[in-house]
Amino acid sequence: MKEFSAGAKAAGKTVALVPTMGALHEGHLSLVDIAKKNADITVVSVFVNPTQFGPNEDFDKYPRQLAEDAAKCEARGVDVVFAPSASDIYAPDASTFVSEESISQNLCGKSRPKHFRGVTTVVTILFNIVKPDCAVFGEKDAQQVSIIERMVRDLFMDVKILRAPIVREESGLALSSRNKYMTQLERAGATRIRRALLAGKALVDSGGTNIDRIKALVINEVTDAKTRVVYVEVVDAKTSLPVTELKVGQCRISMAVWYGSTRLIDNIII
Ligand code: PAJ
Repeated sequence: MKEFSAGAKAAGKTVALVPTMGALHEGHLSLVDIAKKNADITVVSVFVNPTQFGPNEDFDKYPRQLAEDAAKCEARGVDVVFAPSASDIYAPDASTFVSEESISQNLCGKSRPKHFRGVTTVVTILFNIVKPDCAVFGEKDAQQVSIIERMVRDLFMDVKILRAPIVREESGLALSSRNKYMTQLERAGATRIRRALLAGKALVDSGGTNIDRIKALVINEVTDAKTRVVYVEVVDAKTSLPVTELKVGQCRISMAVWYGSTRLIDNIII
């Protein structure tokens, strides 16, 4: 991968990276489209990164389907699929991590304590190997892209971060590799996440500015027998940091819920 990138650069070509954990869907492929518009060569990495999963999380059952992913990438015009093994990426005694320590404390960071440290570490490693001019991240994981932007700024990394909008099923459910864990019935039920976010937005659109009321409404709308709310928060749309005052158009409702035995996240700009 390093040799390929060095060759591409020597030939005067720009490189875009789309980091993924595979089980690719239209959400990932929309990132590819953005990458292709912004660079000469598009690299998709497929790596289920062990350091971002907690001890009781779904690392083992996370879907792995490299042949299918590679075919989807080829059909979409990706130039390189970089699919390293865990031992390619991490030496057995690797002991260096990159950690962002402000934004990572909130939202998903509270319930997944070392998750973002794993993300910033692996993204740094991928940047160091691929040396992309730009990299594309989805707003489905809005906190993640805020953290990556902060890391790139703070560590003077020479990568332009591009944000991609959330891609959804017609039902409103945000596409996610983890949707595979749900039954048809659960998937139908999980569409209430989107409806709850829209209800929150509608409250703001009709003049509501009380953050506690917005949160309460969203929690109420999302709750059914299968829902367990992890968090519903109103945050700054760019930084994903908590806000105490609503600024219309510059905030986001971010939420995580367990729906049955699947952990789902979604968000909406308000
Ligand atoms: P993964 O969950 O595979 O997601 C890879 C990229 O696809 C992320 O930037 C994510 O925000 C984006 N994405 C996923 N679903 C999307 C949707 N419905 N609409 C738009 N974009 C979507 O995020 C990770 O992997 C990992 O944490 C990673 C950054 C690869 C580091 O291991």
